[in-house]
Amino acid sequence: PTIYVITPTYTRPVQKAELTRLANTFLHVPNLHWMVVEDSPRRTNLVDSLLERSGLNFTHLNVESPKSVRIGLAKDSSHTPRGTLQRNLGLRWLRENLILSDSLEGVVYFADDDNTYSLELFEEMRSTQKVSVWPVAFVGGLRYEAPKVNTAGKVVGWKTVFDPNRPFAIDMAGFAINVRLVLKRPWANFQLSGVKGGYQETSLLKDLVTIAELEPKAANCTKVLVWHTRTEKPTLVNEGRQGFTDLKVEV
Ligand code: UGA
Ligand code: MN
Repeated sequence: PTIYVITPTYTRPVQKAELTRLANTFLHVPNLHWMVVEDSPRRTNLVDSLLERSGLNFTHLNVESPKSVRIGLAKDSSHTPRGTLQRNLGLRWLRENLILSDSLEGVVYFADDDNTYSLELFEEMRSTQKVSVWPVAFVGGLRYEAPKVNTAGKVVGWKTVFDPNRPFAIDMAGFAINVRLVLKRPWANFQLSGVKGGYQETSLLKDLVTIAELEPKAANCTKVLVWHTRTEKPTLVNEGRQGFTDLKVEV
């Protein structure tokens, strides 16, 4: 099965570094199709040439988030969903470009550009029948959050402190979906507005599976194979002085 990785991304000083790190990881994963969706009014040369030179199979798309949800600009700053429209565009591309049949084999995974992914993770998710789940490190104020799995190997809840009553109390990096399910349920999408913090994942998953159907991976959710790392913003206080850096040099 092909792994379709959907990555939202936006222009900022560390963007090329983040995407380089991801590309280097994905180059080790067989049969991977990278869908990079820029949060921008047009596709940028920086991302385009990085993808071209990577040697990966890729699709390059763009959709700009509406101003009202841009970080720091939303009225309700408690929740500014990031990457939502970009992930939905990725799902739409799959629905419009793949043909649903029993022989269609693939898995969809949402990989933010700043997280850290082990190679083992991709082998775990490849066998996903409907939706598979696993732990994610460094979220919700814990070393890791994980699905609660009973002795029969079924998901029965969530080992999270932050709002464990969410129907799907799981980070974006903690699940993968069989691509046939994505095509069979074209109405399933991430919801942009009216979603409380932490409910983004639920807004999609509720239309795809029940808790009982979830497939625990990573040794019944006892191993950490993905880390919700966040990159520090570089200090650029000396930019703007003359004669040091050349704006023509891509960073
Ligand atoms: C957490 C979750 O891990 C994300 O999956 C979720 O989208 C996000 O919260 C949220 O609140 O919506 P966090 O590390 O806070 O993640 O978010 P970022 O890594 O800053 O952004 C998630 C993705 O969206 C990244 O791939 C980023 O490049 C992209 N993004 C971010 C945009 O496309 N546009 C933006 O304006 C900001
Ligand atoms: Mn992040």
